[in-house]
Order: sequence, then C-alpha cells, then structure tokens
Amino acid sequence: MAILVRAKDVTKKYGGQIAVDGISFAVRRGEIFGLLGPTGAGKSTTIAMLATLLAPTSGIIAFEGMDLTQNAAHLRHVIGIVPQELALYPTLSARDNLVFFGELYGLRGRALETRIDETLELLGLTERATERVETYSDGMKRRVNLAAGLLHRPKILFLDEPTAGVDPQSRNAIFENVEHLNRQGMTILYTTHYMEEAERLCHRVGIMDRGKIIALDTSQNLIRLLGGSIIHVGMIRQTTAWHEPDGLLNDLRVLPEITSAQWHTDRMIIQTHNAAAALAGIANAFQSAHEPMRSLEILEPNLESVFLHLTGKSLRD
Ligand SMILES: Nc1ncnc2c1ncn2[C@@H]1O[C@H](COP(=O)(O)OP(=O)(O)OP(=O)(O)O)[C@@H](O)[C@H]1O
Ligand SMILES: [Mg+2]
Repeated sequence: MAILVRAKDVTKKYGGQIAVDGISFAVRRGEIFGLLGPTGAGKSTTIAMLATLLAPTSGIIAFEGMDLTQNAAHLRHVIGIVPQELALYPTLSARDNLVFFGELYGLRGRALETRIDETLELLGLTERATERVETYSDGMKRRVNLAAGLLHRPKILFLDEPTAGVDPQSRNAIFENVEHLNRQGMTILYTTHYMEEAERLCHRVGIMDRGKIIALDTSQNLIRLLGGSIIHVGMIRQTTAWHEPDGLLNDLRVLPEITSAQWHTDRMIIQTHNAAAALAGIANAFQSAHEPMRSLEILEPNLESVFLHLTGKSLRD
C-alpha cells in the first residue's frame, strides 16, 4: 500500500521538555492508523505537527513525498483536523459554525451550502442544525467538531480523541462515521487512550508512551506477540507505589509458567503461557502469603495487556 504521510526522526521540544522524542512511522493511503497512549504520551503534539499546525524541533514529515513545512499552504487543503478541544462558537448554530469553517477552507456560495447539507446529513445533525451549539449534548458538539474538519473533503483526517466525554450512543455514531468515511477512501489518523477503540477501528496501531512509539503493528499482531493469557487476581489489600508485597510478588515471578506479575491497586495481573498450568502455583503463592484471593479471572490478552507488558503501567493510571 502506498504511503501517504511519513514522519522521520520527528522531535518536538517545549523549552527543555521533550514532548515527542524522535518518532518515525508511516501512514498508508486508505488506512485508519491509530496512536494509542496515555495522557501526556505526545499524541496531540504528533497530530499537530502532521497537520502543519506546529513545526517539529527536528526531523522530517513528508506528505505524498513532499516536505510538509515547505508545502504547508498547499497541503492544508488536503488535510482535515478535528482537535481534541472543541473549537466551535457556542452561540452560533451548527450550520453557521460550518459556514465559518467552510469559508476558512476557501469554500463559498452554492458549493459550500451543498457541502454543509451533505455533512450535516452524514453526521445526523440536520434536524437541529439551526439551533445554537450550546444547547447540544456533548456527543452532538463532538459531531459538529468532526463536521468542521470534513467540509473540504480532505485526503487525510486527523482525529484527536474524538470520543472524549461523549455518551455511548454518540460514540457509536462517531465510530460509524469514521468507518464510513474510510470506506469512501479517506485516510484517517485517530488518537485515543481507549484500547477498545484502537482495536475496533484501527487497521494498524502505534503504541505511544513518553514521546516515543514503542510498538507498531496490527492489533492482532501486537497481541499475538504477547501470546498466552492474562490472569487477574482480585485482592483485599491494595498496593501503594512505595509498598509492594515482598514475598508474594517474588513467589509468583519465580513460577515457571509465569512470564510476568504486576500488582495494580487491588489486582495482581499475571501473564502466562498456559493459564491452566499456572493456576495451582498461583493459588499456592497466595496461600503462603496469607493473602486472600477475592476473585480470579482468565483473560485473553488485549492492547491494554500489551501496553502493560511494554511499559509496566496501565493505560489509564
Ligand atoms: N504548549 C505546550 N507547552 C509545554 N508543554 C506542552 C505543551 N503541549 C504539550 N506539552 C507537554 O508535552 C507532552 C505531550 O503532550 P500531548 O498533549 O501531546 O500528549 P497527549 O498524548 O495528547 O495527551 P492527552 O491524552 O492528555 O491528550 C506532555 O508532557 C505535555 O505536558
Ligand atoms: Mg492529546
């Protein structure tokens, strides 16, 4: 598949602080590419650089082989961005907001009207399009935000956590819109800290942490790489960062069936090649430590477990 956008050794520093730390990756034409990572990982900074809103401190970004910074004025017409923070005028209607954004993209007159009608229809906003945005639900505001990035039919759409703070119904509507747009040929770069979203929507996922992309592949391959199963043991006692259970954790980690064990608040998260074979050893370790097991669950690995495995922390800490 042809490459649409390529980033090479891209770094962004704010003063002395590194927000994005030498990342290299490529977004292929026609794919939904996900950037998955916790708060502060550098997702928005990456998107802002790819969308020409922010200049990298160093490194190169190319769009269809053209240097982004040297061709920014031209490339802005083929790039759509939906920012993480809502960028709407609350006292204007959805329609008037879209007139404003459409004009920014150089659309005028009949062509603009048609685009606005189509986009409102696509996002299910037609019915209330003339009401003030401030009267909308969070989910509807998100959809207007999305509409604003779509009016000029960009080749690539940058979506920065588009489902933050929306109800499940609007969330599903947004998923369906993203999938629909992608089926029509739009390339999409989607950031999220919800692993369910990355797994469901994205053809490939870059896992981001502390400014770096630490893994990049299809969800399936990332998960397969980890292999085995995850066992969660619910605990009565809770861990604090400065006190780990000396004996128990060590006893678990030396068991041959176990690849890793980590204590997160009120759960022990254990990774194993073979859950059935590991259970007896786990039960013994808990018994020896006089630590009651509150619950026990065997889970197939998912992107959350991949992240935990790679970083030693949870996506939502
Ligand atoms: N304008 C800025 N000035 C200084 N530091 C910044 C600025 N914008 C971001 N940062 C810092 O850069 C790092 C990456 O931030 P960024 O917003 O890109 O992360 P993110 O992955 O989008 O996080 P979130 O999930 O919370 O949106 C953070 O440590 C953040 O505090
Ligand atoms: Mg962000």
